[in-house]
This record gives sequence, structure tokens and C-alpha cells, in this order.
Amino acid sequence: AKITYVEPDGSRSVLDVPVGVTVMDAAVEEGIGGIVGQCGGRMVCATCHVFVEEVEGESPPEPDDDEDEMLDYTAVERRPESRLSCQLTVGDGLGALVVRLPESQT
Ligand code: FES
Repeated sequence: AKITYVEPDGSRSVLDVPVGVTVMDAAVEEGIGGIVGQCGGRMVCATCHVFVEEVEGESPPEPDDDEDEMLDYTAVERRPESRLSCQLTVGDGLGALVVRLPESQT
């Protein structure tokens, strides 16, 4: 799926992320600085916070209770469209996703 990461200054990086890979892992691998992913996806750091702006195709599943709880600990206050990008795994039906990165992760 085509994942677009929008930095706070508006600059964009577009990655082609394979099915089964998370939006966090792909960003960390590419050195996209706006996502830290300190805990490696174990859902204990909340430094992979993103705001989902656009979804093309099948939406990723809604946050589960653990993610919802962890979203209360993000550096920049959560919004309705907040997600932990380590919990956004690219699925077969997802065409494209645009995520905005918060001003700060820590
Ligand atoms: Fe730590 Fe997502 S990488 S909560």
C-alpha cells in the first residue's frame, strides 16, 4: 500500500509498504524522523503516534482497548483520528493511507 507520511512542516514522504508490515516499522526503517517507535511495537511507548487523514480501500481495524488506553499517553494530545502506527498493519485491502505526524513524540 502507498503510505504517505506528512511531517508537521507539510513535507511528505511516500513509501510503498508491503502487506503485513506496520506503518511504524516502515517509517523507522526509512528514517522518517517524525515516528520514533521506541518500544518496537510492544505498545508501551506511544512514540509512534500519528493522525490518520485519509484511507483508500479497506480501513484498518479500529483501535483495541490497549491501544485506546495507550493513546492517552501521547506527547501531543490525541484526537479522534489518532492511532499508534505500530498497530496499523498494512492489510490486503488497503490501497493507500495518509498519516500526519505530530509535532513531537516525546
Ligand atoms: Fe511503542 Fe507503538 S512503537 S507504542
